[in-house]
Amino acid sequence: MKDLLLEIIDNKKLSNSIYQMVLKGDLSIIKYPNEFVNVKLKDFYLRRPFSVADYTTNTLTIIYKVLGEGTKEMSCLQVGTKLNVLVGLGNGFRELSNNPLIVAGGIGIAPFINLIKVFNKKGIKPTLIYGEQTKDNFILLDFFKEHTNLYLTTDDGSLGYKGNAVNFLKNSQINFDKYYACGPNLMLKALKEYSDNGYLSLEARMGCGFGACMGCSIKTINGYKRVCKEGPVFKASEVIYE
Ligand SMILES: Cc1cc2nc3c(=O)[nH]c(=O)nc-3n(C[C@H](O)[C@H](O)[C@H](O)COP(=O)(O)OP(=O)(O)OC[C@H]3O[C@@H](n4cnc5c(N)ncnc54)[C@H](O)[C@@H]3O)c2cc1C
Ligand code: FES
Repeated sequence: MKDLLLEIIDNKKLSNSIYQMVLKGDLSIIKYPNEFVNVKLKDFYLRRPFSVADYTTNTLTIIYKVLGEGTKEMSCLQVGTKLNVLVGLGNGFRELSNNPLIVAGGIGIAPFINLIKVFNKKGIKPTLIYGEQTKDNFILLDFFKEHTNLYLTTDDGSLGYKGNAVNFLKNSQINFDKYYACGPNLMLKALKEYSDNGYLSLEARMGCGFGACMGCSIKTINGYKRVCKEGPVFKASEVIYE
C-alpha cells in the first residue's frame, strides 16, 4: 500500500451519472486488474473506495457513479487538482483462465477494462455479459464491442436481451471455464446459485480500507474475511450469502 498525491489529468462524464477520472503519478505499485484505491476527499472523513478500472505505470483510471455527496464532489473536480489516494489495496483478479466469461452489472463494469486488456494481450477475447437498467446507462460500448464477445441486457428491454445478466446466461449456450463477476449483490448471489465456477468481486461499506478495522468482513466457508484485505475478489465457492 502507498499513500500518494495524484494529479487529475481528465475527469469526464461517460453516461447519465457515470464519470471517468484519470490521475497521474507513480502507479508502479499496482500489479493486478481490480485492485482498488481509496480516495480522500476534502470535506469527508472517510475515504471512498474505487476499483482500478485501468492503469499504466504512471496513470490510474477510475470509473465512478455519482451516488452521494462524495462522488458528487469528485464529479466537480477540475483537471490539475491533486488528490490524496491510497493505492495498491486488495487482491485483484490474479488467476486468468483460457475461456473467460465476464459478468458485469451496472457500475460493476468498472474493474473489467484492465482485465479485458490483460486477456487480449494473452490472445484471448473474453465473453462479456453487460447488464444495465436501460440503454442510456451503458458506457464504453465501442471498446467492449472491439475487445470482447459482447452481450448486452437491459431490465427495460431498451437494448439487447430484456432481463438481467444472470437470466440471460441461464438461457444462453455460452461456454466458459471460469467467470469473473462484479455488480449488485443480488446479481452476484444469483450467479453463484447458478454456478460456483468463478470469481466474485464484492463491495462492502469500508472504514479503514486496509485491513485494520474489520468493518468490511463477509462470511465465507473459511470464516470471516475482509473485503479490503483478502478481497475484494473471492472464489464464488467460498462466499456464503445469508
Ligand atoms: C472495493 C470497492 C470498489 C468499488 N469500486 C467502485 C467503482 O469502481 N466505481 C464506483 O462508482 N463505485 C465503486 N465502489 C462504491 C463506492 O465506493 C461508493 O459508491 C462511494 O463510496 C459512494 O460515495 P458517496 O460519498 O458518493 O456516497 P455516500 O453518501 O457515502 O453513499 C451514497 C449511497 O451509496 C451507498 N454506498 C456508499 N458506499 C458504498 C459501498 N462501498 N458499497 C455499496 N454501496 C455504497 C450508500 O449506502 C448510499 O446509499 C466500490 C466500493 C468498494 C468497497
Ligand atoms: S475497511 Fe477496515 S478492515 Fe476492511
